[in-house]
Amino acid sequence: MKERIFSEAGTSPSAETTGLESAPRRRVISIMATGIVSPIALTSGSAAAEAVTDLLVDADAESDFKPLRATDLQMAKPLLVFPFDAKAGKPRNESRLNKLVVVRLPEEKMTAETRARSVSGVVAYSSICTHQGCDVKTWMSKESVLACYCHASKFDLFDGAKVVGGPASGPLRAVPLALAGEFLSIAASLPPKAGD
Ligand code: FES
Repeated sequence: MKERIFSEAGTSPSAETTGLESAPRRRVISIMATGIVSPIALTSGSAAAEAVTDLLVDADAESDFKPLRATDLQMAKPLLVFPFDAKAGKPRNESRLNKLVVVRLPEEKMTAETRARSVSGVVAYSSICTHQGCDVKTWMSKESVLACYCHASKFDLFDGAKVVGGPASGPLRAVPLALAGEFLSIAASLPPKAGD
């Protein structure tokens, strides 16, 4: 049984929410992944839901949650998503720090390590800015970077979301993806690094 971790440190993008680096306020939510079954079981309490790995759903959806496919994403159009708790039949949106940003990008421009975490050209990162915790969700096509609207930090999603501008203290947390059938899901474990 594999274990994945999301961290929680508050509920609003204030100075309190300094992203995933806020160790004193961090509460760890463990998400148990036991396998992959058809994402058709997106209903609370079904036996099949016990074994569903985390799919991804639009963070703005309030009901009628639909698991995302890579083809649902337009190239270079970021989307904020939440992992979907199939057992509870709801997104893991109890903390905004569980929110991710997914973007479909040209695979050939990715570093080997970033490509290894992607699936069908889609990369996923925590959307929580490592500066002061705003959602990072603005694609700047001229520079091909993801930007934070709060203080203009910029992240290179082709290379592990490393900081390429602004005051952010470090890269966005990378989240490896996998496919559950045709749907995007969170990988149960990190893939090996290139060259391993
Ligand atoms: S919170 Fe993102 S740059 Fe300040």
